[in-house]
Amino acid sequence: MLESTRIKTEIPGPKSKALMERRRSAVSSGVGIATPMFAQEAKGALLTDVDGNTFIDFGGGIGVMNVGHADPRVVEAVKEQVERFTHTCFYVTEYEPYIELAERLNELVPGDFEKRSFFINSGAEAVENAVKIARSYTGRPAILAFENAFHGRTFMAMSLTSKANPYKKTFGPFAPEVYRVPAPYPYRGPSEEEWFAAFERAMVNIDVGSVAAAVVEPVCGEGGFIPFPDSCLQKLREFCDEHGIVLIADEIQTGFGRTGKMFAVEHSGVVPDLVTTAKSLGGGLPIGGVTGRAEIMDSVHVGGLGTTYGGNPLACAAALAVIRAFEEDDLLSRANVVGERARAAMREIQDRHPDFVGDVRGRGAMVAMELVKDAESKTPDKERTGEIVAAALQEGLLLLTAGQFSNVIRVLMPFVITDDELEEGLAILGRAVDAAA
Ligand SMILES: Cc1ncc(COP(=O)(O)O)c(C=O)c1O
Repeated sequence: MLESTRIKTEIPGPKSKALMERRRSAVSSGVGIATPMFAQEAKGALLTDVDGNTFIDFGGGIGVMNVGHADPRVVEAVKEQVERFTHTCFYVTEYEPYIELAERLNELVPGDFEKRSFFINSGAEAVENAVKIARSYTGRPAILAFENAFHGRTFMAMSLTSKANPYKKTFGPFAPEVYRVPAPYPYRGPSEEEWFAAFERAMVNIDVGSVAAAVVEPVCGEGGFIPFPDSCLQKLREFCDEHGIVLIADEIQTGFGRTGKMFAVEHSGVVPDLVTTAKSLGGGLPIGGVTGRAEIMDSVHVGGLGTTYGGNPLACAAALAVIRAFEEDDLLSRANVVGERARAAMREIQDRHPDFVGDVRGRGAMVAMELVKDAESKTPDKERTGEIVAAALQEGLLLLTAGQFSNVIRVLMPFVITDDELEEGLAILGRAVDAAA
């Protein structure tokens, strides 16, 4: 097998090191550094840095590149659009790609009812707007957010986010009327069976009649790739129906095929009222969306929703090309194949190291392993997690961590990754874990 990785220097190489020096004096140190190298170019599932080192990308720019870097359809669509016009502001002078994208999303998002869509620039903005819409529709102020949740870094999205360090520390006060409720976490509890009782206990402290919306990730992303079991999502749907609460599924990380279906909620049969999208929707161009029931989406007064760049024509053209790529290349099937292989490889790693690979979990191609100091105590092992990611990088594999305790290794590779690249990446992961034993 010909290797795809090509590592010519220590990582970071000399050119990346020099750029890092400039970064330190030019860019706020508040922006974290997950990997220390600088990108030169990327194609499919391979990313080459400025020193000529080529990596297999198991991160996809945090789940953005499901269709792969530089998919030719996305590149062509953007080129074609950039030559016609780049910006008008949708509600100043309208354009067709925005309408077409809304039509496509209204078809793709689950729910056998009339839907509407609205576009913004990012995931956090999608969440902000879904909350605005739900409040406007219900006339109620409160929002339920789950343990382990991540919804973004703007004030409402950050308030809904669970983990304090680094996302919330020093940034308060947060938005009022956000209530944190338990989420299922089979490995650490509550289990699928215990969850609803824990949720109901928490709800005793909240005036349910004041709740506008519940915002749920069908699989927790940043929180550690923890699936919200189907039966729990179904119970949550029933609870929301009983109390007139808008159910918002945050599909920003899970969407666009990551779990093997276009949207992760489809596994459960649950139909949310509103769905937020971003990340892989744009194939690398910044765009977010809110899609949902027409009566909810249309309840907002005219002019209540908007932003200068939202649904920018370049981003809409890219998103339409992404949807075409899914259809033409049957990327959902590929996501399932890639996911099964990644899960099997992680299980083999766990079999070799049952003492510290505590859990292997996920859905479709959204797979992760949780590392602990020992299987009994389940004490999170953030240090070993960091060592493994650093060792894999030296061998040419870009990996990302996740989890409330930063002790989860997750994979978000493009679905267009070749079988050889996938095997090579998984072998590097295995060697990095072995070396950390
Ligand atoms: C589930 C979820 N919601 C919201 C966001 C925020 O998206 P963005 O970083 O585009 O603002 C993220 C980003 O990781 C996410 O995973």
